[in-house]
Amino acid sequence: MVPSNGTLILGIETSCDETAASVVEWKDGVPCVRSNSIHTQHQLHERFQGVVPELASRAHLDWIVPVVQDAIKCAGCKASELHAIGVGNRPGLIGSLLVGNAAAKAYAWSLGIPVIGVDHVAAHLVAPLLDAAPAKWPAFGLVVSGGHTHLFKMRGPNALELIGRTIDDAIGEAFDKAATILGLGYPGGPLLDARSSHGNSNAMRFPTPRLTARSVREGGTDEGGPGATATNLDPNQRTLDFSYSGMKTALLYAVRGVPAVPNRPLPQRPLPLTEQRISDLAASFQAAAVRQIVDVLERACVATSHSPDAPATLLVGGGVSANRHLRAELAGWAATHGIDLRLPVPDYCLDNAAMIAALAHWRFAMGESDSLRLAPRAHSNLGRLPLHR
Ligand code: KG4
Ligand code: ZN
Repeated sequence: MVPSNGTLILGIETSCDETAASVVEWKDGVPCVRSNSIHTQHQLHERFQGVVPELASRAHLDWIVPVVQDAIKCAGCKASELHAIGVGNRPGLIGSLLVGNAAAKAYAWSLGIPVIGVDHVAAHLVAPLLDAAPAKWPAFGLVVSGGHTHLFKMRGPNALELIGRTIDDAIGEAFDKAATILGLGYPGGPLLDARSSHGNSNAMRFPTPRLTARSVREGGTDEGGPGATATNLDPNQRTLDFSYSGMKTALLYAVRGVPAVPNRPLPQRPLPLTEQRISDLAASFQAAAVRQIVDVLERACVATSHSPDAPATLLVGGGVSANRHLRAELAGWAATHGIDLRLPVPDYCLDNAAMIAALAHWRFAMGESDSLRLAPRAHSNLGRLPLHR
């Protein structure tokens, strides 16, 4: 079912370190952003070089009401004109999610309208559809963020099947750690992106993982999980999963040197870490991280060619979709396959509430909503079930 024209949904997003609210109106098949208010906590967490959950949830408490009020005011509407409230209720930091979810339910109850919980990761995949022409289905959905590197088959915004995922670090997490190793600062992804443009991407060859079902089953960590499909495959078959922790270790050794091992000749000392060497390592790391994405997409494309799942579109979302090298490589890859590449505009790459409101529109149109018992969850099992719609 298609959402109806003129429907107004307020989205609320508090899963990590951004307090965000947005009003999105449905117009002729397009989720149109009427307002997009964000308060980011980067400064608060900068000195810890990472998000401190307790500080994050307290800051959400301070900011949630002003940010929601600002979103409604900037949209030029009254709260009484809203048809529903969408809220990211999973996955994320539980204390942070609690603040947004409590606020969403309170607004919904007081306005007498439904509350709709949506998955933050799935919401990243509709960010490229904000203020943009409708997509053709089926699609591949690629989420590249600080916490996720997930590849889905999609038949619609709410019909996803997970076909690949990282078995250890997410790509954004790897960029952030690489930036820390190179002393670039926080948050690392954008700084590494900027620094890479001064470096030679062929300066260092990083290992490209060749993940087979056996290696994924044996190597998957609790954090990254056992891969998307490894349990169903022949042990020697390659999976569509990703791995970034080996690259990170290789970078660490390149910068600090390989630790000495008993009974082995002394390892080579690392080259001096000059400004040029930092740029070269940043560019080489970024190129290798992106190469892995394109390599998995290529194999996913081959695996689905001539099948009903062959994608017409590639939807990309998450903070790392702002990366300039990734955007350029994906554009080249999609063009050679005749696939319609949809990347978010810069404002919608990072966490925002417009994508939450947009995904809530699709659920609302199906007649779906949640009760006031809606609870936040730290994890999601998104796409683990076969396509259901
Ligand atoms: O989607 P997001 O805002 O939050 C999560 O849901 O995780 O993504 C944040 C991640 C961080 O790891 C950040 O370093 C990375 O996105 N990021 C980038 C760039 N901009 C943000 N990574 C590489 N290049 C960028 N330009
Ligand atoms: Zn996100």
